[in-house]
Amino acid sequence: YLEFVRSSETTGVDGKPMLNRYSTHLTREHDFPGAQAMLFGAGVPDRQTMQTAPHVGIASVWWEGNPCNMHLYDLGREVKKAVTSRGMLAWQYNTIGVSDAITMGNQGMRFSLQTREIIADSVETVTCAQAHDANITIPGCDKNMPGCIMGMARHNRPSLMIYGGTIDKGYSKTLRKPVNVATCYEAFGAYQYNTLRQPDDGGDTSKTKDDIMDDLEKHACPGAGACGGMYTANTMATAIETMGLSLPGSSSTPATSPAKMRECAKAADAIKVCLEKEITPKQLLTKKSFENALVITMALGGSTNAVLHFLAMAVTAGVELTLDDFQRVSNKIPFIADLAPSGKYLMADLYEIGGVPSVQKLLIAAGLLDGSIPTVTGKTLAENVASWPSLPSDQVMIRSLSDPIKKSGHIQILKGSFAPSGAVAKITGKEGLKFTGKARCFDKEVQLNEALNRGEIPRGENLVLIVRYEGPKGGPGMPEQLKASAAIMGAGLTNIALVTDGRYSGASHGFIVGHVCPEAAVGGPIALVKDGDEVTIDAETNSISVDVSVDEMEKRKAAWTPPRMVVTRGALAKYAALVSDASHGAVTDLF
Ligand code: FES
Repeated sequence: YLEFVRSSETTGVDGKPMLNRYSTHLTREHDFPGAQAMLFGAGVPDRQTMQTAPHVGIASVWWEGNPCNMHLYDLGREVKKAVTSRGMLAWQYNTIGVSDAITMGNQGMRFSLQTREIIADSVETVTCAQAHDANITIPGCDKNMPGCIMGMARHNRPSLMIYGGTIDKGYSKTLRKPVNVATCYEAFGAYQYNTLRQPDDGGDTSKTKDDIMDDLEKHACPGAGACGGMYTANTMATAIETMGLSLPGSSSTPATSPAKMRECAKAADAIKVCLEKEITPKQLLTKKSFENALVITMALGGSTNAVLHFLAMAVTAGVELTLDDFQRVSNKIPFIADLAPSGKYLMADLYEIGGVPSVQKLLIAAGLLDGSIPTVTGKTLAENVASWPSLPSDQVMIRSLSDPIKKSGHIQILKGSFAPSGAVAKITGKEGLKFTGKARCFDKEVQLNEALNRGEIPRGENLVLIVRYEGPKGGPGMPEQLKASAAIMGAGLTNIALVTDGRYSGASHGFIVGHVCPEAAVGGPIALVKDGDEVTIDAETNSISVDVSVDEMEKRKAAWTPPRMVVTRGALAKYAALVSDASHGAVTDLF
């Protein structure tokens, strides 16, 4: 039905190639006088412009109250200025979004993943309903990026994405080191276990743990931009740039850099190229470009959330991508980046040594990235980065491919009696490759957080802490968990593995397994495990198993009753009713 509204004519009323093949239905002759009156009323300067200029929708995920998003309206204004100055009509609009960090750990987090669907719905709806000829999206926080790409894939009109950009580094005077939002969560673990102190380096040691927390909270986020490590937002922006859907450098250019403003102007040129060459999102969202996304995610140690979002983007674009693809790519791609959360550098540091294009250049030269894929510039990825500087020889952030941190990727797809349809683990190797421990089960994350607050998780015996009924349907909304993993890392509890049918924040690290499928709410094995069962996670055999016989599991299944849905009306109820499982991206339009 989307093709139906695209004009089959290729020459405009001015005799030039027609770039307004969607809006022309509204603007030619006087078939829709009400629409034309509205467009004049909204600011179209004259009939010639209305009938020949392409209408470009500019969708920013702007709202106040979140550093990742607070500047996106201003970026949208810059884009509008540039689009208008190049003879196109620019229509700015907005979608909703929520902050992953602000909602983290409270019930608000249940709304986070479903905002990806609302953003996709919004971009699709405005583009199609308003007959826009092209679309520029400007996302900032985690779910924004996949949401925008899914919306672009659905309407499939010439499009590109401008990433809002990464935040600058904060600095803590009490801890005397650079800090970011994840530092606050980890410090909270030490705060709970009374081990939060100033460094014993000859400087001030008089600050209390409350002074230190106060200092951290005030200085971790020094202005606009998305969380600074290789967390979900930066992971998704990096992957999308490597798929060719944003301009070179978009993912590593900091939000407050003048270069981000220049990117807004360049986007106007690029969208014109996309219109002229009829480059559409589905031409860019291909198996090859998803392969590139997986490669850069493994090489840079990106967030496990990328698995869910890539699956969702692929489902939307009609590309065959499965969990097995992730394992295949993970097996062959070395993990080379000393970036947070497992490493010490931030995206703003990577920008200083050349940014993501310099890493792409390295990986293309090694034959690991496909440089021949088309991009929104009208050139290939390899052509885009050809003039970009190579990584400096004296930098230490990105290791050489022959001396990686780990020879294979950090994302492991696990299957087994605990997760027959798959689970996603983030294992950098620092924590070991195999873990066996006694299960301790928590129905909902809040129960685990309360146990941690009470200091009830002991050191010593190996424990597998299981948080269940937090999947896409059961959460509902597959809420992200960071508080527990950060508190456990901060408290130095090395005897713990975490397993959930929910998700982990991109800032999480440690021995963690999420996205367990089938989820507890539909009676998956994770619902049937009991305290004391032995659970083994093995990244070498890619398995996660529970040491309980098949007969016993069947008995437990027969005695299991589905939980009562606590949310029965509103956005989350709609989401829970529609959502697919995590191994299919947790999308809401896969019937
Ligand atoms: Fe937006 Fe972290 S809260 S990227």
